[in-house]
Amino acid sequence: MKNKQILLAARPLGAVSESNFSLVETGIPRAGDGEFVVRNHFLSLDPYMRGRMDEAKSYAASAAVGAVMVGTTVGEVIESKHPKFKAGDFVETRSGWQLYGISNGGGARRVDPAFVPLSAYLGAVGMPGVTAWIGLNEHGRPKPGETVVVSAASGAVGGTVGQLAKLKGCRVVGIAGGRAKCDYVFNQLGFDACVDYKAGNLDADLKAACDKGIDVYFDNVGGPVLDAVLGHMNAFSRIALCGLISGYDNADALTVHNFRSFLVNRINLRGFICSDHIELWKPALAELGQLVHDGKIKYRESIAEGLENAPAAFIGLLKGKNFGKQLVKLV
Ligand SMILES: NC(=O)c1ccc[n+]([C@@H]2O[C@H](COP(=O)([O-])OP(=O)(O)OC[C@H]3O[C@@H](n4cnc5c(N)ncnc54)[C@H](OP(=O)(O)O)[C@@H]3O)[C@@H](O)[C@H]2O)c1
Repeated sequence: MKNKQILLAARPLGAVSESNFSLVETGIPRAGDGEFVVRNHFLSLDPYMRGRMDEAKSYAASAAVGAVMVGTTVGEVIESKHPKFKAGDFVETRSGWQLYGISNGGGARRVDPAFVPLSAYLGAVGMPGVTAWIGLNEHGRPKPGETVVVSAASGAVGGTVGQLAKLKGCRVVGIAGGRAKCDYVFNQLGFDACVDYKAGNLDADLKAACDKGIDVYFDNVGGPVLDAVLGHMNAFSRIALCGLISGYDNADALTVHNFRSFLVNRINLRGFICSDHIELWKPALAELGQLVHDGKIKYRESIAEGLENAPAAFIGLLKGKNFGKQLVKLV
């Protein structure tokens, strides 16, 4: 038996391609004192990984060329010399893009697949869910009856944002790419409306869906979608700026023209990173876990089969080919 790893082979120039990655085989790691070895079942693919592939200054260090691609996994402990983790435990670790990982317990979380499905700990009951919870509660701060708009609404973060806002008694409008995603957001996730930004009438469709204007915008995409939303923000509204995926391959695509809206509407825009608020993770995960367990938060997954298909799935994620949380199944 061998371990397989995907390395960052070269930094992308513009759009990511498969040549930016390489697949290698190595031995399976053995646990030293204070360590455990985990066989990963699912790898999470997340938009932030695009930023790690670049050398540009950011809130986190770049991935090194030649190193295993960074990423979070869930799996089963197969060998342990760690006092708090034993063989058979299910854990979330920052193993990276590989079949087997080794951990000293730092950043590891024991999870219970009998409470919610194992893969959910990488989505609604993991980092994307916490991001939704923090951005909405800390920065959006919606009141019952207010209108909350969220982009990338069928995705891991956006789908959770909208459902949390519905539970708070808000009117919730999603923005997503294509009819199928919008139908899912409206019919399955229970949003009040969902606007297809690819249909060509974004401004008019937003106006129709948000007849009382927008009080909170949870932005996952930036660029032309943000520009259109700015035209419908209410006075003293809030924007939780979570992500800018429309510009991850090309920052020039993020130009905003409707800047005047910030002044005339006295908009409070707050950029945030989920790791800024470590103290909120425990209460957020407890609430999200219960909501998913009770069926009050639903989610959808796009699952690629096999580590060798991770690069293609990641490239697809950056182009909106995923439909729900993007995972790679490893066993
Ligand atoms: N601040 C933080 O701490 C934090 C933490 C986690 C995630 N994030 C950010 O949150 C956002 C969503 O992440 P996620 O994990 O939930 O991913 P996701 O929504 O599951 O997948 C990404 C989605 O982005 C949309 N997209 C791609 N290119 C686009 C474009 N040019 N214009 C508009 N939409 C585009 C696609 O949906 P459509 O088909 O609907 O376009 C795609 O499915 C990302 O920007 C990510 O970087 C931030």
